[in-house]
Amino acid sequence: MDENLKIKTVASVITKSEKETEDFAKKFAENLKKGDFIALYGELGSGKTAFVRGLADVFCKGIRVSSPTYAIVNEYKGDPDVYHFDMYRITDEDGLYSTGYYDYFEKDGIIAVEWSENIPFGLAKERYDVAFEKLSENERKITVTKIIS
Ligand SMILES: Nc1ncnc2c1ncn2[C@@H]1O[C@H](COP(=O)(O)OP(=O)(O)O)[C@@H](O)[C@H]1O
Ligand SMILES: [Mg+2]
Repeated sequence: MDENLKIKTVASVITKSEKETEDFAKKFAENLKKGDFIALYGELGSGKTAFVRGLADVFCKGIRVSSPTYAIVNEYKGDPDVYHFDMYRITDEDGLYSTGYYDYFEKDGIIAVEWSENIPFGLAKERYDVAFEKLSENERKITVTKIIS
């Protein structure tokens, strides 16, 4: 644990449908600029991809968003671009490095990473953590935390 990190909860909401999660992401997107990094946490089906769909809707009009589980990354062209990662299959630093993930830190887009719990060693120091909890079939608790070094 880096003692110098400061954390601040920005928002915590409960959404009651996939659309509400997308709409919350659109609202959250108002805070974002190019170069920002969003770490997404939560089990399968908790709404991480739905959230990224909301972000992409703001920055990358007309783009189709799906989980890049096999591809590791989907690039959505926009203003700015959104780089959508899924680290479900990544377990160690070598595996992460070989995907070219770190090259994306040099680009000018927004980075959003599903299964961030798999790569604690590879997250940007300054970032938003967005955690998803399944409360019931259609309810998700979403907690946004800003991490500042
Ligand atoms: N409140 C909600 N927010 C987001 N998704 C929801 C919600 N309620 C039900 N769902 C359903 O849960 C699933 C979430 O899928 P997805 O966004 O792909 O999750 P993940 O990327 O975390 O695996 C979808 O089938 C969606 O319809
Ligand atoms: Mg997903």
